[in-house]
Formats: sequence, structure tokens, C-alpha cells
Amino acid sequence: MSELLGAAILGTGDVSGEYIKAFHKNPHTEVRAILSREAARAEAKAREYGLERCRAYTSLDELLRADDIHVVAVCTPHHLHVEQGVACAQAGKHVIVEKPVALDLEGLRKLDRAIREAGVRSAVGFVLRWNPLAETIQAILAEGLLGDLYYVEADYLHGITRDYRLYPWLRQRAFGGTALLTAGCHAVDAVRWFLRKEAREVFCYANASRGNPLDYEYEPNSVVLIQFEDGVMGKVATSLEHMAPYTFPITLMGNRGVIRDNRLFTKMWPGQTGWAVIPTVLPDSGAVTHHPFMQLVAHFVDCVLSGTESHVNVADAVKTHEICLAAEISKLEGRPVKLPLA
Ligand SMILES: NC(=O)c1ccc[n+]([C@@H]2O[C@H](COP(=O)([O-])OP(=O)(O)OC[C@H]3O[C@@H](n4cnc5c(N)ncnc54)[C@H](OP(=O)(O)O)[C@@H]3O)[C@@H](O)[C@H]2O)c1
Repeated sequence: MSELLGAAILGTGDVSGEYIKAFHKNPHTEVRAILSREAARAEAKAREYGLERCRAYTSLDELLRADDIHVVAVCTPHHLHVEQGVACAQAGKHVIVEKPVALDLEGLRKLDRAIREAGVRSAVGFVLRWNPLAETIQAILAEGLLGDLYYVEADYLHGITRDYRLYPWLRQRAFGGTALLTAGCHAVDAVRWFLRKEAREVFCYANASRGNPLDYEYEPNSVVLIQFEDGVMGKVATSLEHMAPYTFPITLMGNRGVIRDNRLFTKMWPGQTGWAVIPTVLPDSGAVTHHPFMQLVAHFVDCVLSGTESHVNVADAVKTHEICLAAEISKLEGRPVKLPLA
């Protein structure tokens, strides 16, 4: 192995640019390959980021045969994630797979199995775990300022309209899947990340606003109730039709205190008479440039170099995706669905 880890990026869209920047700036990695359906697009992307020794590929098989590639970031549309993620694992490459990692249970299991069998490290693009508010909430929880949580809520409210580059494919069921899989999974992951409990049951309603003005092939809005172990309740609302700026509200209620976004009230501070407001960076932008991809990549590279498993690996993401898939069954059949899925 050469001194630096060689990184490959699959896709030349918005998110691929964030991974290129993150691997380019990381002191342990060098971006050596970009995959595109058109070589010229990969070459242009390499030029855009000043990558001098980066090769353009149009064949994933050929890219994966390169010995100087050790880590791969899969940044293509959702329907390609299983196939490309499995190919990376089977080629012995460590892999970051963008969310959703799969659109159905079969694909989810296949990807998880391939990664386990290959023994490679994996991570999933749940970057909001590194958002400064999310990190602050984790510190507050660790200090016991909320006590035992009994309710956790996170919502993904983002109008993904015709102006978005990914809208043409994302609005289609075969590519996007559902509102939860395509986007709301970030909020499901956040609820799980704060709670650290197993989900037991899911119930979901979904709709489109009158006339489905954005022409989604699936309901762009949904609300999901999740029962976790010990009876703890979770709620995730998703709206891809949200007629207001992007917002990702978070609420945690415990027997000693409450967090609503960056406001904290806790019985542990006996003199507190009103909400304490924590100045921090909220997850309040849908722009990928605002998301902490740099931190996700730095964490993943550390995992690869130290041979440790990531907390945001595919095995963990299986649980988030099972909640999303159970929600779809619940919506179709009008009943609560038990987890884990059979
Ligand atoms: N973690 C996060 O916060 C976050 C945020 C936004 C998006 N994402 C995820 O990242 C992934 C990529 O999103 P994006 O916003 O970068 O999408 P995008 O801008 O549409 O880029 C996707 C790229 O995939 C390649 N591609 C291969 N087959 C394709 C096909 N059949 N149709 C369209 N493109 C195809 C294209 O590159 P070539 O044309 O060069 O082949 C395209 O540029 C998605 O899974 C999305 O959910 C994650």
C-alpha cells in the first residue's frame, strides 16, 4: 500500500463535490479516481478541484481493479447504491455509501452481507451526526441533564422542488423510493442516534398536498410514529413539499429536562427560570456545502487506518432503513409494523 490512501468518487453531482473536497483536504488520502457515465464529466470535476493525479473512469469494474484505490464514496442515485456498494466491498475497498443505502429489504440485506463477508470498513452519509447542535445534544445527554428520555422527535422539512439538480430522478419512485428513504432517513437516524435504543414498532401516514404540484411519484410528505424498547416514543415528519426554508427541528423530552433545537430547560439547574439558548450551528440548511462531510470523511479515514468499526456503518444504517421500510408497509396496509422486519 502506498503511503496515502487512494480515494475514488462515484458520480459527479453535488454530493460528489463535497466528498472530493473532504478527501482532498484529508492529510491521509488522495483522490485518484472519479467515475462518471461520461469521461469528460469526471475530467472536468477533477480540474474543478485541482486534482492533478486523478483518473477518469466510465467502468466501475475497471476502477475497482486499480490497486492504488483503497476507499470509495458512492454518490450516485439511490437505485445504484446496493450494486455499487457490493462491488466495492467484493473488490476489498472500504466504502462510504450515500443514503439511502438501499430501496428495499433484499438490497439492504445484500449490501450488509457483502460488507460483513469482505471485512471492509463502511460508513453511511448520515453527516448530521457531526452537526454542532447534534454534538452538543450528545454532550448534554452524557451529562444527564435530560435524565431518561421518553420522547424524541426530529423532522426533515425541505421543499425539494424542480430547481434542484437531483429532482428529475429523485421524484421517481424507482429512484427516490419514498419521502422517508430519500430524505427523512436523516431524521430517523437522528432520533436513533440520540436515543440509542432498538425500535420495536412503526406506524405511518403519508400524503401529497392537493394536486401533487411537484409531481412526485410517491407521497412527498409523511409522519411516522416509532415505539422503541422500554416504551420510549419517537416521531419523524418528512415534507419534500415544505413551502418554507429548510428546517430540521429536534425535540428531546426526558424526566429531568427538555431540548427544543438549541434551547434547554433542565431540573438539574435549580435556579433556571426560562429556556437557556445555546449559540451553535443548527442543521438549518439543505445546502450540501453546509453539511459536515469533512468530519464524516475524517472519521471514516480514522476507522480505516485504525481498523475500527464506524458507529455510522452499514450494519447500523440497516436499523434506520428498516424503520423507513416498515413505515412504507404500515402506510400501504394501514397497520403498525413490528421490527425487526422478518
Ligand atoms: N448525506 C447528505 O446529506 C446528502 C445530501 C444530498 C444528497 N445525498 C445523496 O447523495 C447521492 C447523490 O446525490 P446528488 O445530490 O449528488 O445527486 P446528483 O447531483 O443528481 O448527482 C448524481 C450523480 O450520479 C451519477 N449518475 C449515475 N447514474 C445516474 C443516473 N441514472 N441518473 C442520474 N445520475 C446518475 C451522475 O454522474 P455522471 O452524470 O457523471 O454519471 C450524477 O452527477 C444521493 O443518494 C443523495 O440522496 C446525500
